[in-house]
Amino acid sequence: MTAPDIPAKASDRPTFALTTPLYYVNALPHVGSAYTTIAADALGRFHRLEGKAVLTITGTDEHGQKIERTAAERGKSPQAHCDEIVAGFERLWQQLNIRYDRLSRTTDPRHHAIVQDFFKRVWDKGDIYLAQQQGWYCVACEEFKEERDITDDRCCTTHTNKPVEWRDEENYFFRLSHYQEALETLHRDRPNFVQPPSRRNEVLSFMDQGLQDFSISRVNLDWGFPFPTDPKHTIYVWFDALLGYVTALLDPDDEPTLDNALKRWWPINLHLLGKDILRFHAIYWPAMLLSAGLPLPQGLFVHGFLTQDGQKMGKSLGNVLDPFALVDRFGADAVRYYFLKEIEFGRDGDFNETRFVNILNADLANDLGNLLNRTLRMAHKYGDGTVPNGQVPPDDALMALGLGLGDRARHSYRTLAFHDACTAALELARTGNKYLDERAPWTLFKQKELAAVDAILYAVLEAVRLAAYWLAPVVPTLSGAIYRQLGFSIDFNEVEVGPPGHDQWGALPVGQALAEPQPVFRKLELEN
Ligand code: MSP
Repeated sequence: MTAPDIPAKASDRPTFALTTPLYYVNALPHVGSAYTTIAADALGRFHRLEGKAVLTITGTDEHGQKIERTAAERGKSPQAHCDEIVAGFERLWQQLNIRYDRLSRTTDPRHHAIVQDFFKRVWDKGDIYLAQQQGWYCVACEEFKEERDITDDRCCTTHTNKPVEWRDEENYFFRLSHYQEALETLHRDRPNFVQPPSRRNEVLSFMDQGLQDFSISRVNLDWGFPFPTDPKHTIYVWFDALLGYVTALLDPDDEPTLDNALKRWWPINLHLLGKDILRFHAIYWPAMLLSAGLPLPQGLFVHGFLTQDGQKMGKSLGNVLDPFALVDRFGADAVRYYFLKEIEFGRDGDFNETRFVNILNADLANDLGNLLNRTLRMAHKYGDGTVPNGQVPPDDALMALGLGLGDRARHSYRTLAFHDACTAALELARTGNKYLDERAPWTLFKQKELAAVDAILYAVLEAVRLAAYWLAPVVPTLSGAIYRQLGFSIDFNEVEVGPPGHDQWGALPVGQALAEPQPVFRKLELEN
């Protein structure tokens, strides 16, 4: 199969823009934020390999009561507090090898300009009015709660150790109720707008209860943008934060106007988010955009929650998994691989250290790394240390599996089934190990069956290369190390588009000098 023609200029390529949520900066990033960001990074890298111009957006949500209070508790100004925590996010993204293009901070003055521009459209549309707001507010969620979402001890169901607070104040409201019909049409006509389907059903049943207007201003809160038409109020943190996705689209030299932000990358192709913030993204956000007369994003994908050893993670339980510690101990590729291979994206998943170590060792150190190592040794021993000129027979079982990998892995990434893309690549490596054992090239070499030896070694080296290529979005550094051993000078942390033809079986050039075998993935050990 020939490689697709890839236009050289980034501006000619199809675009793909995707976002993580903009994370609250009340604390350093937790493993939940790392999880979404790893997935976004892998997906962005996949689309790059496919020849798209990609914009991977992450960022931080810095306004609101939660941040204001945390800063006060730490004896810092809100801005100084935010700057400090944001530096922590940047550090983690670097350690996890996240290739993001934009880090959208809601305290950026350019964001203020975008919020004002957007606000004006909604205001002019007549969708904002002043009224009395009474209700229970969860500061940790930054959201008013219905009675049915409050536990017996007056906490919200997500933050079971943080009591909700009673509010009775004048707020400005957004006329969400006006968009009931438009949103029903959206979710009916575009059934894939919210994925997976279980989350879409949740949205449908929420809409069935009838959409209520929601307040988009706060009083007695300084840490936020002043409400443009009434500076006694500040803009509600969610109204401000969702627009951070738009601000992120500005090029560095652009004047911060809505028109500039929307000119190249809008509508965003995909928002990734966790299940707790579904309503904001599937209902409030599209309604805000409809009000401002803007096209809607192409879709959302909602992932599940992570637990540790089967238990919900929480500060009070003292079992919060620290992503910094994890990556320090095991390295970025290992952490990325575990979360994407072991947990089906969209479902809840668990972290367990023993499982972590076992899976990494079995998959990456043994099945993939060892296979490469032993085959390279043979290529040096039985040949001249170059890719052997092996004629793989047309009915070869390993090649047959390899020929199917491209389509399966591509489909898996496109549908965010990262675990399946990894499994497919690993199946090829596992089959390669079995293939070597069964065909025993060491015996054939003794029998002077040199053409057969060459064919076997070629097939296995090519299987390892192809598996590495399709694992590159998940473990880019490991894939690069495998490629270097195979004699390529391709660095998956640098590539802008996939090298032509490498997505398919047969790209390993005969005669290419192979490197001296070195372990590409160090075995991990359990602490005790
Ligand atoms: N600031 C808002 C998002 C605004 S987007 C315009 C916010 N921030 S957050 O930092 O609290 O959460 C960010 C993400 O982390 C959410 O997608 C949430 O689902 C996710 N997670 C929080 N705890 C999690 C786990 N235990 N497991 C997996 N994801 C989790 O919400």
